Amino acid sequence: MKKYNVVIVGGGSTWTPGLLSSLSKKKNEFPLNKLVLFDINAERQAVIGEFAKIFFKENYPDLQFEYTTDKEVAYKDVDFVFCQMRTGGYKMRELDEKIPLKYGCVGQETCGAGGFAYGLRSIRDMIEMVNDVRASSKDAWIINYTNPAAIVAEALNRVFPNDKKILNICDQPVNLLRSYGRLLNMDPYEFEPVYFGLNHFGWFTHLYDKNGIDLVPVIKEMVYKNGFKPVDAEQRDQSWLDTYAMVEKMLIDYPEYLPNTYLQYYYYPEYKVSKQDPNFTRANEVMANREKRVFEECRRVVEAGTAAATNVVHNDAHGDMIVEVAESIAHNRNRQYIVIVENNGLISNIQDDAMVEVAALLGANGPRPMGVGKIDTFYKGMIEQQLAYEKLAVDAYFEKSYNKALKALTLNRTIVDGKKARKILDELIEANKGYWPELN
Ligand code: NAD
Ligand code: G6P
Ligand code: MN
Repeated sequence: MKKYNVVIVGGGSTWTPGLLSSLSKKKNEFPLNKLVLFDINAERQAVIGEFAKIFFKENYPDLQFEYTTDKEVAYKDVDFVFCQMRTGGYKMRELDEKIPLKYGCVGQETCGAGGFAYGLRSIRDMIEMVNDVRASSKDAWIINYTNPAAIVAEALNRVFPNDKKILNICDQPVNLLRSYGRLLNMDPYEFEPVYFGLNHFGWFTHLYDKNGIDLVPVIKEMVYKNGFKPVDAEQRDQSWLDTYAMVEKMLIDYPEYLPNTYLQYYYYPEYKVSKQDPNFTRANEVMANREKRVFEECRRVVEAGTAAATNVVHNDAHGDMIVEVAESIAHNRNRQYIVIVENNGLISNIQDDAMVEVAALLGANGPRPMGVGKIDTFYKGMIEQQLAYEKLAVDAYFEKSYNKALKALTLNRTIVDGKKARKILDELIEANKGYWPELN
């Protein structure tokens, strides 16, 4: 069987050890020849890279492995690029979350004004990454997790419209499928989902079991009765448990479909703000918990010289999804995943050039997405408002337009008020100097 060359961009990410573990777990299905970790931050990269050396020596001895901060080394002869970078790091994430909260608006890394700020930072680095990859590996598949995935997907689709080997993905649908599996005591790999929406803004309309029976009504009843928890609840921070618990509230108010957890910010912006601590946001929680735990554990393994007793992985869904997506493409498996693609009639009553999230069969020629037809007025209205926000955010970046940025934020359901939008925008511009284009 062919062995593949993979590079992980953002090799110093808190998610990288989990990804290494998934690659190792799936070495028979998706065998690697060479793996390179690439990051612009040498210090973060070295901690995870030294951990990886020990981990692979024990778990994947025939793998060629290296870590680097040199793009030329990273992108040579690559079959798959797995990308998960964070422009500006957690320090900027913290500002993305805290600045909107000062004005009474949701502070979240991918939703609302925070997602807007992060999006305008991510675009430049993501375009650069694609150009760098294409300079040395023109046929490599680029599978991207970098957030905010909706904005990144829209921007890349504009700059590289003919590049059919860029695929943007999100692990939250898989997290939800696994969580339904836990709730029903069933294997989530047997589920066939029907899903539509935008990234972090979608719904499961049906979830078929292997006999074609729709499990959505059963799931709803069980959520009403027992609430809802993530599949890996025991490893989750409190804010994630609160987020999953909101699914019950969303299903009481909007019972038709199973909502993506991120819809809580758009359905209930005021309630979410009332529950957020403006001095300790998710970025603080991540720095205090996940980041600290991952880096401490990697250092401990390096000191011990063995990864035998490591528990550095905190969420299997993330690593498993990207490896399975790559494998399904590499071996033309045509397995089903929920991914981000251009609409072109998949949701038949919204515009064609929207980047939507739907189920697709993934094979050697990429995604073959499954259409959902016409959607009802409520979902159409919700999606079109959010889509207009996303489009205007990306316009603002490319046209360096203050006015488009203001319109984008005004359209976002977490803001709405034009005066608030202007104040938040002005403060975000100050905070993002050097990361954003200068808006005029
Ligand atoms: P992190 O800050 O721990 O890791 C990101 C790494 O990227 C850092 O080591 C940083 O130095 C590096 N980096 C920044 N700019 C870079 C560039 N231009 N080139 C190469 N490396 C660069 O952040 P994290 O919390 O581990 O998340 C990583 C990314 O993955 C984020 O964008 C996050 O939002 C995303 N993510 C997405 C999903 C999804 O569902 N789509 C799921 C999980 C994480
Ligand atoms: C989910 C989302 C991702 C997000 C991740 C981590 O999996 O789909 O887009 O990056 O959660 O969020 P956190 O707040 O834990 O960093
Ligand atoms: Mn996501």
